[in-house]
Amino acid sequence: MPALTDTFSLANGVTIPKIGFGTWQIPDGQAAYDATRAALDAGYRHIDTALAYGNEASVGRAVRDSGVPREEVFITTKLPAEVKTADGAREAFERSSSGLGLGPVDLYLIHAPWPWSEIGSDHRAGNIEVWKVFEELYEAGRTRSIGVSNFDVDDLESLVAATDVVPHADQIRWFVGNTQPETTAWCEQRGVLVEGYSPLATGGLLDDQTIQQVAHRCGRSVAQVAIRYLLQKGVLPLPKSTTPTRIRENADVDFELSADDVAVLDALHGTAS
Ligand code: A2P
Repeated sequence: MPALTDTFSLANGVTIPKIGFGTWQIPDGQAAYDATRAALDAGYRHIDTALAYGNEASVGRAVRDSGVPREEVFITTKLPAEVKTADGAREAFERSSSGLGLGPVDLYLIHAPWPWSEIGSDHRAGNIEVWKVFEELYEAGRTRSIGVSNFDVDDLESLVAATDVVPHADQIRWFVGNTQPETTAWCEQRGVLVEGYSPLATGGLLDDQTIQQVAHRCGRSVAQVAIRYLLQKGVLPLPKSTTPTRIRENADVDFELSADDVAVLDALHGTAS
């Protein structure tokens, strides 16, 4: 399926498959292993995990066991949001790297600009400190690209003003009705790839009647319409599922939403956000 093998290019020339398999909330062990194997079997070549998800070891094992050559799989992992010191970042990267056991990672992200227990708190200095470690890891080839997650325009501006490498990607919560226009525009202007996590609003979009109507017109499922919408906006979707049929369905998005249908979806604000 072209949607699984087509790529976006990051500003440094590294290519990244246009749909990633999200593993947030998939428990470590058999669940994460089976879901990752199912995604690879379905043709996904981009897996998104994080140290904080606690499932890197199972994801890594699934990739190794899959028989898919390592260089054909794009692996993203993330520095826990709570870590805002250089030493902490170095140590966390080593834990992720050995947990995955896949050699260099493809994309390493700061999970959030603030610890989850203090959303919105000011950690500008800490983000700059850890970003310098990211730059070292990038220069050393331990990760092929570096980026951030949950950063808004102010967070991005503060970081780029004080560091050398502009993030290659910003992974944010992005779905129909929650399209983060300011951050998305900032990233587009500077060649930063926007990745959308929770493209189905963690399931919240599935009962939306407007999207159901669009899906009916297209002969597609709501999930497929919601995921396709991101692709047509140049945003990389990271759908998550533990169900093999859904894992396949979410990647079967080689169709085109008409301009009229995109306009209908654009007009949905605040849906399930
Ligand atoms: P499950 O993992 O049981 O398949 P998001 O990607 O926005 O985080 O949404 C993930 C949620 O949506 C999960 O609860 C997942 O359930 C569900 N989901 C994923 N894909 C589909 C689909 N194609 N149809 C219905 N529900 C889906």
